[in-house]
Amino acid sequence: MTRKKHLLGDAHIYESLRAPKLHNTRPRFHFSSPVGWINDPNGFSRYNGLYHMFFQYYPYDVAWGPMHWGHAVSEDLVTWQYMPAVLSPDQDYDFGGCYSGSAIEDNGKHYLFYTGVVNAEDGTKNYHQVQCMAVGDGIHYDKYEHNPVIDITQTPADASKRDFRDPKVWKDHDTYYMVVGSTTLDGYGQVLMYESKDMVHWDFIRVLDKSHGEYGIMWECPDFFMLYGHPILMVSPQHMKPKGREFHAGDNVMFVHGDYDLVTHEFTRRHINCTDYGLDFYAATTLQDEDGSRIMIAWMESWANLMFNSKDGWMGMMTFPRELRIVKDHIYQFPVDSLKNYYTATYEYKDEQVQGLKEFEHIRGRWVDLTVTINDFDFHHFAIHFAKNDEYEMYLVYNHLEKTLMIDRTFSGIDQDITTTRKIDSEPLDGVYTLRLLLDTYSAEIFVNNGEKVLSNLFDTPIEADGIVFDCDGAATIDITLHEIGEEPVTKHKGKDMML
Ligand code: FRU
Repeated sequence: MTRKKHLLGDAHIYESLRAPKLHNTRPRFHFSSPVGWINDPNGFSRYNGLYHMFFQYYPYDVAWGPMHWGHAVSEDLVTWQYMPAVLSPDQDYDFGGCYSGSAIEDNGKHYLFYTGVVNAEDGTKNYHQVQCMAVGDGIHYDKYEHNPVIDITQTPADASKRDFRDPKVWKDHDTYYMVVGSTTLDGYGQVLMYESKDMVHWDFIRVLDKSHGEYGIMWECPDFFMLYGHPILMVSPQHMKPKGREFHAGDNVMFVHGDYDLVTHEFTRRHINCTDYGLDFYAATTLQDEDGSRIMIAWMESWANLMFNSKDGWMGMMTFPRELRIVKDHIYQFPVDSLKNYYTATYEYKDEQVQGLKEFEHIRGRWVDLTVTINDFDFHHFAIHFAKNDEYEMYLVYNHLEKTLMIDRTFSGIDQDITTTRKIDSEPLDGVYTLRLLLDTYSAEIFVNNGEKVLSNLFDTPIEADGIVFDCDGAATIDITLHEIGEEPVTKHKGKDMML
């Protein structure tokens, strides 16, 4: 347990010296750490006409350490400009770290809400967590002088004082609301809800929803929003038991669909589904865009895996931002549209037969937006090998008998990787089955059936392993569209790194 003060100025000096030397092993169109370590996206919001993303950040090492908030801005959610870090653990109420939280724009100012970890004076592990605020102008942020704004005396009697974190704040008419992740003393994850008229005095309203052991021991990073009239609670439960093919063992993110009473704030759960079915996805959060659309981003990692190499002084990346839409009570996810502005070449094939192994001249690459549509299903298994050379590969197989999709990274080059596969229920929709792969350097996000389900995964095959090979044990008829994505996003943001 550290009681060392981490000064923001030290982080700025370190960032400005180190960030420009970053190596090009970083992803092209996914947000990655400017230097050091990152985990959760924080304060994902719009302010002053830009997208702002803050993130859990330890600049000095490629491992988790006393948490700072790093900062980046974007006009289109693809090209990010790094900004100086905004929070460091330098106060009695956050010496143990400035943990995750959110941001809102109000009266022309940008308000950040984060969790302060208060370490025990005696150096034991008896820390507790409080909710804090900082106010800024998009570049500089000052911690509120009377922090914390919510301390442990404002939690219900059966809530843990140690696990009380990740505030998400929004405003409805003249009232501010906050949801905070929590766990009961019995170890059941739950979400606490608060309200305020001024953002500094908060009253506890109620427990919005909770697990009874079936959905994890602690609910981290809650988010609560209306998706086209549907109340959705999104949380990241820790240490879940597996549930069929819906949730894997360990940490997950889930969408809780429910009914919500605006007056009593009662939330009645209707059904739950997994947010992302890949191996690397956690701590998802959303913002509401100016046109009302809801954009989600997450840390493309998972505490249980953490096996990805820390390349050249950086560690950690985010998913590509996804727009959420709701169709028949199900949440679909679409990569944000601005990606198409970065396409540098497009190749299309129509009505192609795949029997056995098949390659196509222009279908290869590590930086691609690839869509494969299966129209005819005279087979049991249809597979796509990608990021492939003779020794390493990623492997995706659709089983038409079983109606499952499996991602397999057994041969993906990640050291010490034990959980290497995940199989999910999946079948054609309206007579076709579509797989859209966003490949970027060392990651693949797979959008099934136009965003019905998504699987986010890291891999570590050598960068020159760019083969894409199809394989079918019967006959499949497919259409393929491949867009190459050039170097522009990363060269642009590299040029502007660290606007100090
Ligand atoms: C989720 C999380 C949060 C916490 C942060 C610490 O990944 O554990 O609950 O605020 O990471 O870095």
